[in-house]
Amino acid sequence: MSNPYPRHHARSVGGLFGIGLLLLALSGCDKGREFPAGYQSPPVPYERLASKASQQTGRQLFELHCSQCHGENADGKGTIRRSLSSKPVDFTSLEWRQQVTPEWVYYVILEGRKHTAMAGWGTKLPDEASWDLTAFVLSVTDGRHGPQPPS
Ligand code: HEC
Repeated sequence: MSNPYPRHHARSVGGLFGIGLLLLALSGCDKGREFPAGYQSPPVPYERLASKASQQTGRQLFELHCSQCHGENADGKGTIRRSLSSKPVDFTSLEWRQQVTPEWVYYVILEGRKHTAMAGWGTKLPDEASWDLTAFVLSVTDGRHGPQPPS
């Protein structure tokens, strides 16, 4: 009896590979920074990123943990900004949004940035929280550039 599944499976893997290549091409607009392979293609939960509930949860977490540096409005104007040698960027800027990918934002939230005040939150927050924060951070920019899946 012939089993159609292995073939089907092979085809969908090929499709995923194609999408992966497309993502790599699209991420050419990334900041050009190197980040570990494991983070370059995490399963990005696009629905979660687009969900208002997730963005709202992210906002609450952001106000609690991030706003002192990144600003209440995520514009980089936090109250302790002055004391930071490397300044947080303005997440509401379209220019910034066009330079980053959801993968990059998620990666920095988990791992932080060496030699800056940006600590990694991976060990302190559950994985969903990091995606909710990513959803919020990406949602504060001009809506046209929200975290849409590549079409
Ligand atoms: C103690 C201050 C501080 C806190 C708290 C903080 N950050 Fe940061 N964050 C920074 C600084 C400074 C940078 C810029 C680092 C650099 O120069 O790349 C940064 C960078 C980032 C970036 C990368 C921006 C880019 O352009 O690559 C993201 C995303 C980010 N922070 C998100 C968060 C989130 C979400 C939280 C809360 C969970 C948080 N940060 C908490 C100081 C902070």
